[in-house]
Amino acid sequence: MKPVALTFDDGPGPHTGRLLDELAARRARATFFDVGRNAAARPALVCRQRDEGHEIGNHSWSHPDLTRLAPGEVRAELDRTGQAIRDATGDAEAPRLLRPPYGAHNAVVRDMGRRMGMPLILWSVDTEDWKYRDTAHVTNAVLGGVRPGAIVLMHDIHATTVAAVPAILDALADDGYDFVTVSELYAGADDLKPGELYYARMTA
Ligand code: NI
Repeated sequence: MKPVALTFDDGPGPHTGRLLDELAARRARATFFDVGRNAAARPALVCRQRDEGHEIGNHSWSHPDLTRLAPGEVRAELDRTGQAIRDATGDAEAPRLLRPPYGAHNAVVRDMGRRMGMPLILWSVDTEDWKYRDTAHVTNAVLGGVRPGAIVLMHDIHATTVAAVPAILDALADDGYDFVTVSELYAGADDLKPGELYYARMTA
């Protein structure tokens, strides 16, 4: 068993529908850390993410550095996003997973995660796709960095990233990887704890 959790941040955006098509064609599941204001603008895509078996996480409402905000402002960023995603999906529960923008966290952010029941999900493979905007770079970064149990950071708001996904999925599947959601990656003994940090599930 070689699980890998592909994660896509900052959407949903204009390319998210195409990404969902590519994932569905390969029966691959992923985790989407949606920005609240984008979820509110494109609720049908949030609904598709949920209906097609992906996991949805909270990436704040307006993508600020949460370490620069007061506790009440952090709470408002997360609450408003949770509500927007609930409104889109019709689910009773807000997403449980938190990915703080830029991966930035401090005691206030971690404590808010603990109080709101949210584990903080970071990553072990950073494609830096937002910086390079290059399909070959994204592909090489994933295939060069991946290990069983990895959490891979990408951004579905970039066409260059979405264009890389089919070849990434095919290569990893050929190598025996299973595409799981973040919660599935940690299911069982290592179940996720609110306020704790997670970068990958590395097994021996
Ligand atoms: Ni982001």
